[in-house]
Amino acid sequence: MNRNLYQPINGGIVDIIDESPTIKSFVLVLEETFKFETGQFVELTLPGEGEAPFTPSSSPSDTKKMEITIMKAGRVTALLHECEKGQKVGIRGPYGKGYPIDDFAGKDVYIIGGGVGLAPIRSLFLTLVERIEDFKSVICRFGAKTPDDFIYKNTLFDSWQKIDGVDIKLTVDDANGNWAGNTGVVTTILARDDVNIPNAVVVVCGPPIMMKFTTLKLLEYGFPTEKIYLSMEKNMSCGVGKCGHCMLGKYYVCKDGPVFTYDQIKSYPNIWD
Ligand SMILES: Cc1cc2nc3c(=O)[nH]c(=O)nc-3n(C[C@H](O)[C@H](O)[C@H](O)COP(=O)(O)OP(=O)(O)OC[C@H]3O[C@@H](n4cnc5c(N)ncnc54)[C@H](O)[C@@H]3O)c2cc1C
Ligand code: FES
Repeated sequence: MNRNLYQPINGGIVDIIDESPTIKSFVLVLEETFKFETGQFVELTLPGEGEAPFTPSSSPSDTKKMEITIMKAGRVTALLHECEKGQKVGIRGPYGKGYPIDDFAGKDVYIIGGGVGLAPIRSLFLTLVERIEDFKSVICRFGAKTPDDFIYKNTLFDSWQKIDGVDIKLTVDDANGNWAGNTGVVTTILARDDVNIPNAVVVVCGPPIMMKFTTLKLLEYGFPTEKIYLSMEKNMSCGVGKCGHCMLGKYYVCKDGPVFTYDQIKSYPNIWD
């Protein structure tokens, strides 16, 4: 029998990690095996309160638990931030289309992220690293408002930087304390020769303003529009292509996205709103 589209799988929060002043990661264990592809999203239900869409930040290969990184933005996310270990939750999904990882094989994978946009990027990064020999290189350029605002500090500042085949550069808008890295928005650490453009794909995920200026810079460098992958966020309701809340031109972001190439959506106005 087919599962009801809207019926969540039960689960619970087994750990909570404070990532930054406004962002926490929640480690969930679900009562049923849950498969997803990196870049797809889920609807997370807080029973009796509501639900919201999030992109898992863990690798799909970790079938024992799922991690979701959540920025406090409004009602449901604020309630989630008040939860403690043991809280029951529900997950429905996975929904939408993720990153076409197999198409990235043999290429330089250029990953540009900012803020809580590092959540889907973490899932992608972990997936790429599991089969790093399949890719020419994995080049990451990440930004945050301040050093405190970086999420995944434990791994980002340390073990990820030591992986063979991976090159990571970080920047902050406002340096403070001991920050020895670059200061400036993420486009200030992008360079035309970071990757071999004819043999590269680019993944961009972050706040709309960051995605806009990053995309403009990539176009200026000569990246083809069909090689720029953007993770788009729109207000969503059903998550399954029924309610029309998430329309972007002819596309339903929940069903046809959330990952799109710039080529697919470039002709629509207000894509960065
Ligand atoms: C596919 C997808 C994946 C996402 N992944 C993550 C993730 O991994 N981590 C994370 O922290 N957040 C993620 N988000 C955003 C997250 O869903 C919203 O922050 C959340 O729905 C806000 O719910 P709320 O009840 O707390 O806020 P509300 O009280 O509903 O609203 C707070 C404010 O945020 C606005 N808002 C609500 N949802 C969105 C949205 N989707 N886009 C833009 N503005 C919105 C409202 O208009 C309002 O101004 C994702 C969104 C989408 C569509
Ligand atoms: S959220 Fe309902 S159609 Fe996309």
